[in-house]
Amino acid sequence: MSLNIWYTLFLTAAIAGCNSGTSAPDAIGLMEGEAIYKAECASCHGAQLQGQPEWRTRRADGKLPAPPHDASGHTWHHATEQLAAIVKFGMVPPHAPEGYLSDMPAFGRTLTDRQVNNVLAYIESQWPPEIKALRAKRLQK
Ligand code: HEC
Repeated sequence: MSLNIWYTLFLTAAIAGCNSGTSAPDAIGLMEGEAIYKAECASCHGAQLQGQPEWRTRRADGKLPAPPHDASGHTWHHATEQLAAIVKFGMVPPHAPEGYLSDMPAFGRTLTDRQVNNVLAYIESQWPPEIKALRAKRLQK
């Protein structure tokens, strides 16, 4: 009996842990995030989050193409707070060297913090469970 209670408590904690991301997505927030993604991000990062071709190779103008946000990219390597800062301020220090040239716009004036969190929650919602688990492990370090 008491074992059962502990097991239930453990499961509850585990399930609560899954939802404790800073963006705490709810259905409406995710829908808003998806709409913002399609309107503001998909033109560069791809409708399927696939990024631009050859995204690791700098173009002749010295800039990088837009990376994918799906499991093949590196977005999931970074903590949500860091991603939010990049979306708000663009590729500026401390996320890039001073004077770094990039096509990534800064959305801090056009999107609210809630909208930035929702668009990131939408991106995160597209990652398969194994990527989410790997990410949780990486971010614990
Ligand atoms: C005009 C094209 C363009 C648009 C529009 C755009 N991005 Fe980017 N984004 C880029 C490029 C290019 C990079 C890579 C910057 C670099 O390393 O030089 C980037 C990088 C990023 C990164 C950091 C790299 C990573 O994967 O962690 C994030 C996060 C990001 N973008 C999110 C967004 C979100 C969210 C939106 C929409 C609100 C958006 N971007 C809209 C071009 C764009």
